[in-house]
Amino acid sequence: MTEPTAITRNHGLATPPLDRHGRPLHDLRISVMDRCNFRCPYCMPESVYGEHFKFLGNEQRLSFDEIERLCRIAAQLGVSKLRLTGGEPLLRPRLHELVARLRKIDGIDDLAMTTNGVLLRRHARALREAGLDRVTVSLDTLDPALFHRMSGGRGALENVLDGIEAAQAAGFPQGIKLNAVVQRGLNEHTVIELVQRFRGTSIIPRLIEYMDVGNRNDWNREAVVPSRELIAAIDARWPLEALPPRYGGEVATRFRFRDRQGEIGVISSVSEPFCGNCSRARLSSEGMLYTCLFAVQGTDLRTVLRDGSGNHALREILRQVWLRRGDRYSEERAQRRQQSRQKIEMHYIGG
Ligand code: GTP
Ligand code: 5AD
Ligand code: SF4
Ligand code: SF4
Repeated sequence: MTEPTAITRNHGLATPPLDRHGRPLHDLRISVMDRCNFRCPYCMPESVYGEHFKFLGNEQRLSFDEIERLCRIAAQLGVSKLRLTGGEPLLRPRLHELVARLRKIDGIDDLAMTTNGVLLRRHARALREAGLDRVTVSLDTLDPALFHRMSGGRGALENVLDGIEAAQAAGFPQGIKLNAVVQRGLNEHTVIELVQRFRGTSIIPRLIEYMDVGNRNDWNREAVVPSRELIAAIDARWPLEALPPRYGGEVATRFRFRDRQGEIGVISSVSEPFCGNCSRARLSSEGMLYTCLFAVQGTDLRTVLRDGSGNHALREILRQVWLRRGDRYSEERAQRRQQSRQKIEMHYIGG
């Protein structure tokens, strides 16, 4: 007798949906907070997100009850991986309570968070105790002055390094990763130092190609440093070998040092798009569901969450959204005049 794995995975409910390119829904990224305590020019430039910018009010953000309810339904449709993002997720009060609730959902086997790390020292233990599996810290450079500039004049490098240390001490079993967005002529010359600093530790730095997310960061192709260039430079210093993906649709391409001093990753979404098996959906803090990082339109789930509709209705909406999904923006980037497209901003949709 054969046991259909799809049915096992989603606890006996109907078969998980596949989108128009045959891709399943595995990964839900939840922005729990649209605000951030940084103003990285590539994400929330001060000129736009100044004092007078109107962020969401508390009532407009999904409550923990609402997020938990959606995640339970998403798990029934095949989601096994959740990532909490922002803005800055640690600006959301009592985040560990949400973590504890999400941890208990059947079918969720990976619960992660992406943070800028500034508040991590204060929260690392509570998050770990609540069941958070992994932490990814954004860290673009180890040059303190450049770091300060790249955070829009808001962040101090030492706080982030301190946060990373606290996360190590809290013992995240599946590890700590770093995300560095590399920009030509800005921080590319500091990449080797970043890699060197974490060589010999279990922390995995990942070098991200600068992307044209949102409309506000004045992206241009010349600012993108193709990953292969960075890999060549690192390999010349410390020989590398490629590692196989850990799962289908993995965002990062992995390498390890031949002398076994650890691992690095590159995220080549501009030079080598990976839409082909993208299984990610994104939920904004006010409950809009997006099926691509570069989406122009989303589906309002908050209204449905608050109008008395049952779980069955919600599940059907989610399923229909996924069945209709045809996104492959990064693969189409080269072919279209994308700059005119009105995309959702990164701090709102999560990274
Ligand atoms: P793991 O779960 O550890 O594999 O992490 P991840 O790579 O899924 O998540 P993470 O949030 O650390 O992703 C790192 C960066 O890759 C993000 O900040 C984005 O810049 C980029 N990225 C993640 N997902 C996508 C995606 O679906 N499309 C594109 N174009 N970029 C993505
Ligand atoms: N291109 C690539 N990555 C970006 N991030 C934010 N903006 C961009 C961009 N334009 C990354 C941040 C962080 C995550 C949330 O998204 O560095 O690691
Ligand atoms: Fe904040 Fe991250 Fe955006 Fe920087 S990239 S402004 S830390 S959300
Ligand atoms: Fe997925 Fe859109 Fe990113 Fe392609 S561009 S990998 S479809 S989120």
